[in-house]
Formats: sequence, structure tokens, C-alpha cells
Amino acid sequence: MSHFEIIGGIALHGEVRCSGAKNAALPIMAAAILASEPVTLMGVPRLADVRTQTRLLRCLGLQVERDRRTDILVCRPPGKDSKSVTDRNVCPPDEDVCAPEGLLRQMRAGFCVLGPLLARRRRAVVPLPGGCNIGDRPVDLHLKGLAALGADIRLEHGYVVAEAPRLTGAAIDLSGPHGSTVTGTANVLSAAVLARGVTIIRGAAMEPEIVDLGDFLVKLGARIEGLGTGTIRIEGVDQLGGATHRLIPDRIEAATLLIAAAITGGSATVTGVVPEHLHAVLEKLAAAGAVIVAGADRVSISASNGRLRAVDITARPFPGVPTDVQAQWTALSSVADGACRVEDRVFPGRFLHVAELNRLGAKIVCTGGTAVVTGVGRLSGARVTAHDLRASAALVLAGLAADGRTIVERTDHLDRGYQRLDRKLRQLGVRIDRVLYLHRLSDKAKQQSW
Ligand code: EPU
Repeated sequence: MSHFEIIGGIALHGEVRCSGAKNAALPIMAAAILASEPVTLMGVPRLADVRTQTRLLRCLGLQVERDRRTDILVCRPPGKDSKSVTDRNVCPPDEDVCAPEGLLRQMRAGFCVLGPLLARRRRAVVPLPGGCNIGDRPVDLHLKGLAALGADIRLEHGYVVAEAPRLTGAAIDLSGPHGSTVTGTANVLSAAVLARGVTIIRGAAMEPEIVDLGDFLVKLGARIEGLGTGTIRIEGVDQLGGATHRLIPDRIEAATLLIAAAITGGSATVTGVVPEHLHAVLEKLAAAGAVIVAGADRVSISASNGRLRAVDITARPFPGVPTDVQAQWTALSSVADGACRVEDRVFPGRFLHVAELNRLGAKIVCTGGTAVVTGVGRLSGARVTAHDLRASAALVLAGLAADGRTIVERTDHLDRGYQRLDRKLRQLGVRIDRVLYLHRLSDKAKQQSW
């Protein structure tokens, strides 16, 4: 365990490179189950969630190797005796279709193995992921989609048991009360590529991470049209090969770094990004008064011309402002000039960071899925606790803007989804240290081994 110690009030300056996208890496790694030849992924971020997904794939019989010095990960289809000795400890004796509950408790995205397992191995036994700190997070749409492809789906002892001798293409609508489902689209798309006949997914997620998954599947030999739109057409094939694929950059990490520059009144350039993926966030930053310059694969921000204005946002599915940036925007608004409304239509309950931001002196009132934020002249450093990944990023950003010392507990949340954000922020000149609790160091070191 560890916490961050931040000395706030320093404007951030410089250039930093964006890592590969977590939310592209996790479903694409799961889709490697479909491949009958090796898959090489490049730009894979070093994150706790990627390590968890690696362990899950090993449990399912894949051979997964990561070069320690590069961002390359190689997944090979199961061979004889392919499970590593370490992973025998967490794997149930059944086999290559059963995902261990312990790993899914650590990370919901493990549920993305459901579609690929069902399509390739005809049977999948995957624990129901349950709720989490950002809301209920049901999986009814995932199950509805797979059932429409002909899978027999039962819930047994907290597990989803899905079976189908061969899936069959169908017309499926994945839109739900809060828009489409991102990992639900990933599960159904990954299953449909090996189904007999044509599948049409309406109400499909249009997020860049789903486009990246689709591009990867096409490299494996899948036939897919309409990626990036609400209607995806898939013509099933009998078998998929292998591929080499570079993941898209992490637009949420990039947005977090740009907001870090904005909240400290600094200026920074984030390189290795796709500016179109950040369009909605850049528009809001410009409306707040920051100067934004986007190049082919980089975005620069300057916010050194005085305090930014408060600007309303509503988090929605892509191409809207992402829910994964809502907490960071709430932090930024807490020191902006004026008041604004921050609404989350994707996860209306994702506001656990509000109470912690208020501990730092913010003035935020939250009702339902909306926070009303009245900007204050300054925040004041305190000890705060993060309850989820993006809340944790928001608290770090608030700490950068606060007077004095802020301690953000539970760095494990941040490490799930940001590749050494503290190191990147230090590179930009701010004071943030990771303080390790030495008596737990050996446990932590064990967890981090590949
Ligand atoms: N929903 C349903 N039924 C379903 C599935 C979802 O009603 O079967 C609802 C959810 O409750 C929510 C909305 O639909 O209100 C959208 O949920 P979605 O399924 O799209 O979320 P997810 O796929 O579980 C992914 C990301 C999240 C990100 C959301 C929204 C991954 C691994 N996770 O989750 O990322 O917030 O999409 O964009 O891709 C994060 O990175 O911090 C994170 C939480």
C-alpha cells in the first residue's frame, strides 16, 4: 500500500507522452482468445488491470509474455501444459472455460472474456461482476446480445454459464437506459465474428476503444463494417488467425494530463495522442478560457492567462464528454471562476469524489446525477481517500491546485488505470511523491510480478 503526498500550488510545464489505452487493451487482450495464431500487441500500458487480465488469460490456458523493457505483449493460443505454475493457485480445476472469481473481483473488465470464450470454446463460465463504487453496472445487455446469437445462458451460484454448439448471426439492439454499453458491445462483437451468418448490432458503442477492438479483429481475419457508428455489421467466419496490433493512445490519460495543466494555471503538451478522440474535452477546455493547439498527434494547452471560467458539462457516450473525465472536470470546476453544473448521464451515481473534494475546501452540492460546483479562490491541502480510479485522479489534480500538503490515500485505484501518473506529473515539474508503507512492500512486490 502507498499514498501520494502532493505539495500544491506549482504550475505544470513541459511535454509528456501518452500511454496506450487501458480500455482498448483489456477487451483486445480478451479477444486474443479467438485467435488461432499468436497475437502481438504493442503500446500495452503497464497497469494493475493489464496484469490482472494477463493472469486471467493464463488461467484460461493462453501463454502470455510481456517484455519487461518494452510495451509489447504476446499472447499465444493454448498448447499442452500451457498454464504457468503461479496461476494454478488461482485457477479452479475446471479448465479452460472458467474464469476465476477472485480475478473478476479485482477488475470488472475480466467479463470481456465471456464472448470470446463462448465463440471459440463453445462454453464459458464467468462470475457476475456485481456492483462497484461508480454504480450498479448490470450486464443484462451483454447477456441479451449473446442469447440473441443463440447462446443458452444460465445464472448458477453467482456465475454466468453460457453454451452454444455454434453461434448464429442475429439482429441485436444494445442500447440501454444510459446509452449503449461499451464492454457489452465488445463481448457481442467478439462473439459474432465466429458466428454463422450475419449479425447486425444496433445501438452499438461508438467509443474509439470499440473501433480499436474491431480493427484488431479485422486484422485477425474478421469481416466487420460500420465501426465507429451506432450500427455494426459482422459477417461470421470459421476461424481467425493471428495479428500484430498497436493500441490507440489513452484519451482519458491525455485528458487528465491536460486538465492537470489547466487546474494549476500551467501549460503542457501531451504527445502520442489522437486529438479527434479528445474533441469534446478540448472544446470544453477552450470554452473555459484555456488556449488549445492540436497537431497531428499532440495537443498543447496553456492556461496561464488567469483563472479559468466555470463551464457546464454533461458526460455522455462518445462523442460526448466521457464519464471517465467527469471527476477530473469537477475538480477543475471547483477552482474556476463562477458556478457550473456537472451531470453524468452514463453513471449518475459516480460522485463519490465530491465529499473528498469538499474536504479540500471545494463547494459542491450533489443531487441525483448532477453536481453544482461553485468555484472557490483556493483549495486547502488535506488528507483524502479515493474510492475509484477516476476519483483518485480528480483528488490528485485537486491536490496540485491546493495550498500546502495533500495526501491522497489508496494509490492502488490510480495504478489500476494510469501508467505512473505521479512520474509523468513530476516530469512536468510538480511536487508529488509516492510514499510506500514498507511493511507491506513485499506483498505489493509479489502482486506486481508478471
Ligand atoms: N448498462 C446497462 N446494462 C448493461 C451494461 C451497461 O444498463 O448490460 C449501463 C451501465 O449501468 C451504465 C451504462 O450502461 O449506466 C454504460 O455502461 P457500459 O457498459 O458502457 O460501461 P462498461 O462497459 O462497464 C466501460 C469502461 C468504463 C467507462 C464506461 C463508459 C472498460 C473496461 N470500462 O465500462 O471505464 O466508464 O465504459 O464509458 O472499458 C474507467 O476506465 O475508469 C471506467 C470505469
